[in-house]
Amino acid sequence: MSATQYQVHGNVAVITLDNPPVNGLGYDLRCGIVAGVDQANADPAVQAIVLIGSARAFSGGADIREFGSPRSIQEPNLLTVIRVVEASVKPTIAAIGGVCMGGGLELTLGCHFRIALPDASIALPEIKLGLLPGAGGTQRMPRIIGVEASLNMILKGDPIPAAQFKDSPLFDEYVEGDLLSGALAFAAKVVAEKRPLRRIRDMKVDYPNHEAFLQFSRNMVKGVAGPFPAPLKCVDAIAAAITKPFDEGMKIEREFFMGLMGTPESRALRHAFQGERAASKIPDVPDDTPTRKIARVGVIGAGTMGGGISMNFLNAGVPVTILEMKQEALDKGIGTIRKNYENSLKKGKLTQEKLDTRMGLLTGTMSYDDLKDCDLIIEAVFEDMGVKEQVFKKLDEIAKPGAILASNTSTLDVNKIASFTKRPQDVVGMHFFSPANVMKLLEVVRGAATAKDVMATVMQIAKKIRKTAVVSGVCDGFIGNRMIEHYGRVAGFLLEEGATPAQVDRALEKWGMAMGPFRMGDLAGNDIGWAIRKRRYVEKPHIKYAKFADRLCEQGRFGQKTGKGWYLYKAGERKAIPDPEVEQMLVDYRKELGITPRKISDAEIVERCIYALVNEGARILEEGIAARASDIDMVYLTGYGFPLFRGGPMLYADQMGLYNVARSMKGFAAASGDDFWAPAPLLAKLAAEGKSFS
Ligand code: 3HC
Ligand code: NAI
Repeated sequence: MSATQYQVHGNVAVITLDNPPVNGLGYDLRCGIVAGVDQANADPAVQAIVLIGSARAFSGGADIREFGSPRSIQEPNLLTVIRVVEASVKPTIAAIGGVCMGGGLELTLGCHFRIALPDASIALPEIKLGLLPGAGGTQRMPRIIGVEASLNMILKGDPIPAAQFKDSPLFDEYVEGDLLSGALAFAAKVVAEKRPLRRIRDMKVDYPNHEAFLQFSRNMVKGVAGPFPAPLKCVDAIAAAITKPFDEGMKIEREFFMGLMGTPESRALRHAFQGERAASKIPDVPDDTPTRKIARVGVIGAGTMGGGISMNFLNAGVPVTILEMKQEALDKGIGTIRKNYENSLKKGKLTQEKLDTRMGLLTGTMSYDDLKDCDLIIEAVFEDMGVKEQVFKKLDEIAKPGAILASNTSTLDVNKIASFTKRPQDVVGMHFFSPANVMKLLEVVRGAATAKDVMATVMQIAKKIRKTAVVSGVCDGFIGNRMIEHYGRVAGFLLEEGATPAQVDRALEKWGMAMGPFRMGDLAGNDIGWAIRKRRYVEKPHIKYAKFADRLCEQGRFGQKTGKGWYLYKAGERKAIPDPEVEQMLVDYRKELGITPRKISDAEIVERCIYALVNEGARILEEGIAARASDIDMVYLTGYGFPLFRGGPMLYADQMGLYNVARSMKGFAAASGDDFWAPAPLLAKLAAEGKSFS
C-alpha cells in the first residue's frame, strides 16, 4: 500500500504523506516522497511541489517502529529523501499542520519554503529518546533560526507552537484556514514571482564569540545530563554547524546519531516510549471496544489512598463523592485533600479559582445511597477481606446497573472480592500507588470475570487522570509488589551475610534506584511488610526470609512514622541517619545464627537485588500475569523509582544478556540453597535460545 498520494492541482504537484497515525517516515513513506518529487520534476506541466500531511500530523519524525531494523536505513533513507527534496529543480514547499517533529521537521528544512498553521506543533524531540536530530536538524536549524534558539530547542525537545517562530525566517508564511488552499496559493506566488530556491544548507551560521557560548553550554549540560550522553553530543553537533562546512557537519551529526542509537541509555528511553504506548493495549480487547460513560466517581474510605485517588478525578474535572463510616474520619479526609490543594496554592502551582472548582466537585457522605448515581466506585478501605466483603456486598445492593466497582487492594484476591457481588463482570482492581495523586502508575487488575468493556473503560479513564495504566492478572501482590517482595527478601539476606542497611541502599541508589530498599521500608512503614510476612509464614512456608526485619519490627521500629526503623529520623525530618544500634543488633543477630560476616561488594548487592526482580518478573510473564515484558518495565519505571536510563528490570536483563543473568542466578542458587534462584523456566529457555525478553 502506498504511503503517499500524488495529485496535480493546476501547475502544482501535491504529495500527501499518508502513513497513519502520525506519518512516521518509514520506508514506504520515504519511497513515496522520492517518487513524487521525481514524478513532479519530470512533468513539464508542474512548476511547484507541495508536501503536506494529515490534519493530525505533517510528520511525527522517523518511524520509531522501524528503529533497529534494516528498513530504518534502507535507501532511500531519510537523509537521501531530504537531499532529493532539497536538490529538486522545482520549488518544494512544506505545508505544515498538526505535529511536525524530529525527522518530519528536518524534512521540511530540506524544502525550499515552509508555511504553517499557527498552531502546528514544532519540535526536535530526539533528546527524549536519547538521540540528537540525525537528519540535518543540528546543521540546518542553526542556519535558519540561529545557534542559541536551535540549541535550546534541541536540548529541551519540547513542542513549540509554529506561531512562536513569527520573528524568525523558519516559516515563510502562516496560513489561516484550510492548509491545502493556503499552500496552493503560496505556490502560485512562488511561481509567479519566480522566487529563487532557498536551500538552507547554503546559508552561513554567523555567531561571533561562539567559543565562549559553547563552553558555557557544555558546562551547563554536564550539570544536568546525568547519565545521558546525548545532551553533550547536541552541543558538539551545533559546534560543528558553526565551525565546519555543511557536509562535514552532516557527517559529524550522523556519526553522533549512530553512536547514540547504540547506547543503552537511548535504548532504554525508546523502550519506555514504546512501552508506555504498548501498555495501553490489551491483546484481546480491541481498540474499538465500546466504553462506559464515567461522569461521576464514588470513593469509599477517605484515608491515605482514598484522598489521593479522589484528587486525581477532581483534577480532571470529574465529580467525586467520598464515603466514610464516621463524620470525624470524613472531615479529616476532606481536610487533608483541601490542605494538599492549599499547599499547591502556596507554591504557586494552583490558582484559588482552580482550588475552589476542585473542592466544589467533592461531596462527602456517610450514606451509600449517595453513591447510587456513580458510574465508577473505587474502594480504598482497610486491607482486610472481611471489610472488603461488607463493602462490596453493600455496593452490589446500591450501585446502579453497569457501574464499575473497583478495589484498590494491594494484596487481596480480586476474584474473591468480585464473588461478593452478583456482578463479577463489573468488578476490577485499580491499584494506585502512594501518594496516589502524584504517582504515575496504576495497576489495572483484571479479574477472571471482568468484562472487556470494563477494562477498556478503566484504561480510558486512566489516561484522563494522566496515569500510566498497566494491566495485571490476579496474583498475590500483582506485578509490582510481587516482584518487590523478592527484592526486599534478598536485601534481608545481604544484611545477614554482612552488609549494613546503609551499604545496601547506597549501592542501589548509586546504581540508579531512587531509593534503596531499607529507606523505602522506613518510608512505607516496616509494619506493612511485617504483616505480609506473618501471613506468608502461614500460607507459603516454603519461602525463605531473613528474620532480622521482624526483630526490628518487634521493637516498634516501623520507620519514619515512629522516628526510627532501619535508620534514625529527627522529629519532622526525612533524612535517614544510620543507627549504630541497628548495626549492633545485626552483629548480635549474626552471632546468634553463627554467621561469620563477609565483605559484600556493591556489584553483588546490585546484581542480587535486581536479578531477584528479573526472575520473579520472568515468572509473572510466563504465567500471563503481565502481557509483555515492557509492561513489567513500565510498572517499575513509573511506580518503584527504577532508573529510566536502564529502561526497567526486564530490559536491563536483556542488555546484560539473559545467558549471563541465568548463569549468575545459578551461582546464587548454589551459594544460598534458595529455590527462588532457579532461573524461571521462561528465562532459562530464552537464555538457552540466545533470545531476550523484548
Ligand atoms: N513513528 C511511528 N509511530 C509513532 C511515532 C513515530 N515517530 N510517534 C508516535 N507514533 C505512534 C505511537 O506509537 C502511537 O501509536 P499507537 O496509536 O499504535 O499506540 C500513535 O503514534 C499516537 O501516539 P501518541 O499516543 O503518543 O499520541 P499523541 O497524539 O499523544 O502524540 C506525538 C503524538 C506528539 C507524535 C507523540 O507520539 C510523540 O511525541 N512521538 C514521538 C516523536 C518523536 O520522538 N519523533 C522523533 C523521532 S526520532 C527522529 O525523527 C530521528 C531523526 O532525527 C533522524
Ligand atoms: P487508611 O487506613 O489510610 O485508610 C482507610 C480508610 O478507610 C480509613 O479512613 C477508614 O476509616 C476507612 N474505612 C475503613 N472501613 C470502612 C468502611 N467499611 N466503609 C468506609 N470507610 C471505611 O488505609 P490506606 O493506606 O488508604 O489503604 C486503603 C487501601 O488501599 C488498602 O486496601 C490498602 O492495601 C490499599 N493500598 C494502600 C497503599 C498505601 O501505600 N497506603 C498503596 C496501594 C494500595
